[in-house]
Amino acid sequence: MAGGYLFLLLVIILNVSSSFQTSNTVNPCCYFPCQHKGICVRYDPDDYECDCTRTGYYGKNCTIPELWTRIREFVRPSPSFTYYMLTHYKWVWDIINNSFIRDTIVRLVLTVRATLIPSPPTYNSAYSYLSWEAYSNVSYFTRVLPSVPDNCPTPMGTKGKLQLPDATLLVETFLKREKFIPDPQNTNLMFAFFAQHFTHQFFKTYGRMGRGFTKGLGHGVDLSHVYGDNLERQYALRLFKDGKLKHQIINGDMYPPTVVEAPIHMVYPENIPKDKRFAMGQEVFGLLPGLMMYATIWLREHNRVCDVLRKEHPVWDDEQLFQTARLILIGETIKIVVEDYVQHLSGYYLKLKFDPELLFSSQFQYRNRIAVEFNQLYHWHPLMPDQFNILGQLYNYSSFIYNTSMLTDYGVEALVESFTNQIAGKIGGGKNLHPRLVEIAVGVIEESRKLRLQSFNQYRKQFGLKAYTSFQDFTGETEMSSQLESLYGDIDALEFYPGMLLEKTHQNAIFGESMIEIGAPFSLKGLMGNPICSPEYWKPSTFGGETGFNIVKTASIEKLVCLNIKKCPFVAFHVPKAEESSISEGTKTTDEL
Ligand SMILES: *[C@@H]1O[C@H](CO)[C@@H](O)[C@H](O)[C@H]1NC(C)=O
Ligand SMILES: *[C@@H]1O[C@H](CO)[C@@H](O)[C@H](O)[C@H]1NC(C)=O
Ligand SMILES: *[C@@H]1O[C@H](CO)[C@@H](O)[C@H](O)[C@H]1NC(C)=O
Ligand SMILES: *[C@@H]1O[C@H](CO)[C@@H](O)[C@H](O)[C@H]1NC(C)=O
Ligand SMILES: *[C@@H]1O[C@H](CO)[C@@H](O)[C@H](O)[C@H]1NC(C)=O
Repeated sequence: MAGGYLFLLLVIILNVSSSFQTSNTVNPCCYFPCQHKGICVRYDPDDYECDCTRTGYYGKNCTIPELWTRIREFVRPSPSFTYYMLTHYKWVWDIINNSFIRDTIVRLVLTVRATLIPSPPTYNSAYSYLSWEAYSNVSYFTRVLPSVPDNCPTPMGTKGKLQLPDATLLVETFLKREKFIPDPQNTNLMFAFFAQHFTHQFFKTYGRMGRGFTKGLGHGVDLSHVYGDNLERQYALRLFKDGKLKHQIINGDMYPPTVVEAPIHMVYPENIPKDKRFAMGQEVFGLLPGLMMYATIWLREHNRVCDVLRKEHPVWDDEQLFQTARLILIGETIKIVVEDYVQHLSGYYLKLKFDPELLFSSQFQYRNRIAVEFNQLYHWHPLMPDQFNILGQLYNYSSFIYNTSMLTDYGVEALVESFTNQIAGKIGGGKNLHPRLVEIAVGVIEESRKLRLQSFNQYRKQFGLKAYTSFQDFTGETEMSSQLESLYGDIDALEFYPGMLLEKTHQNAIFGESMIEIGAPFSLKGLMGNPICSPEYWKPSTFGGETGFNIVKTASIEKLVCLNIKKCPFVAFHVPKAEESSISEGTKTTDEL
């Protein structure tokens, strides 16, 4: 009996002392002690271990390099050196572009980038450790880095102030535009709307501010923004004849159907009558004429490809024509994104190449999961201008947004021409976000806090970059950096999205090092990880034979547009240079393409 009491007493004392301890001990993982991608695992309240397996480092905090790591690190060119080489010495690249070395370098770029993305995916916003739930529940966006642990001394772990600066204050002070800053890489609105249209097939946050859920269960280039993200929506958009999609003809041209003909949910303000509401794969595409324009172009392309396929395969039924056309359009999209879109954005003199075979000899996982971090960093709203110039007529935001008649008033040709000629804003460097869009950036920052995203410097390290040591080092100037320092207190407490947008930009470039070095891996993994790039799929029969395969292999933004409009203006992701504007005068025939 007495022994029993003694035991009970002991248990109580032990319990009291341990709960006493937890409330006073800082979770050691709040210090982010494990370097070089080591995993912090907690044991007793103040005890942790770093799992350094296959990091190339060992020691308590994974800080001591193994011999091979030492050698590799010694010879590894820094990202800034590599970027410099790729954007200088044009004459060298002119030689490389046309030689077999091009393949070798493109392969290297793809593999180096893609290996930075964990695959299979690891964490999500609810699970900071590996778990079957995080792996299998595709309703979550994945996470490259787990959340900052709960109950850390500061929001960013142990660094910085007890409270993060007010998000609205941050955006108003550092991001809001005073005067439009044009992009030094000459990016145009044709690019800006392509970016928005393209990314909204996989950035589909579900119940904003939640725990990082997505409606985009395809997690990549699935063209759900053309075909709808579920079967019911797809069926409502399909004609069920010759594989085609429903459409309407206005002034002799093909446009998306209205919600009367294709009854699906679309987001429009009340005052727009039903017969003026276009029905498109993505429910938010009624927002901007630029999105409706791209929806129209892809709709026409789908139906055009169906005609090509039907000629080749008179025996195929509607379903096979539809499904094969979809795979071809997925292929075209990836080709255009790699060779036109990423090519433009990178500013590289290396001519990029979309050729899945380049990766067949390397270890590569044909799967992808969209990450919260990718979604965060892709908020490129500084691209948006002050006004939209359509054939010389200026439209402000109020007359542009949800303007469903603009597309049919002007037609696709006129919009392409106008968006190609209008320069977009510079994304990085701060102070270039139109006042109408300030709230979007505030939302991004607030979301990152709800999701407890780790600091900008933590992400820099994760992607093989050096952590910044001061705010001055980070912005490369003195004014913003001292303001940021007084707000954040510590460079290691700077948040992810402000870090991405306020970092000093590369010379004459649209944004800074981190956007490229962290954004490109997500992007390339998502593109090359598509099943159509796998050895099983990448063959003519997948695309209905050589004709379809060639449509994929020769796709370009120019062809996409020009094969679907009557005359062919200058089409590119940059405003025409002096020598190009002469081309823009003349018109090409479709035979030339
Ligand atoms: C490991 O990291 C922690 C937290 O940053 C630090 O206090 C400790 O001194 C480090 N230990 C070693 C052996 O480097
Ligand atoms: C090599 O490719 C880059 C990027 O596309 C381009 O700027 C350059 O003119 C190309 N050179 C040749 C000779 O094709
Ligand atoms: C994914 O997780 C959410 C939140 O726990 C849950 O509501 C949902 O049912 C899960 N989905 C599946 C397919 O298990
Ligand atoms: C936008 O333009 C319309 C039409 O020109 C005008 O009526 C409206 O006042 C303008 N709105 C703003 C906010 O400038
Ligand atoms: C929509 O654009 C047309 C030009 O296509 C313009 O005439 C009209 O005023 C705009 N609508 C609104 C509501 O601003």
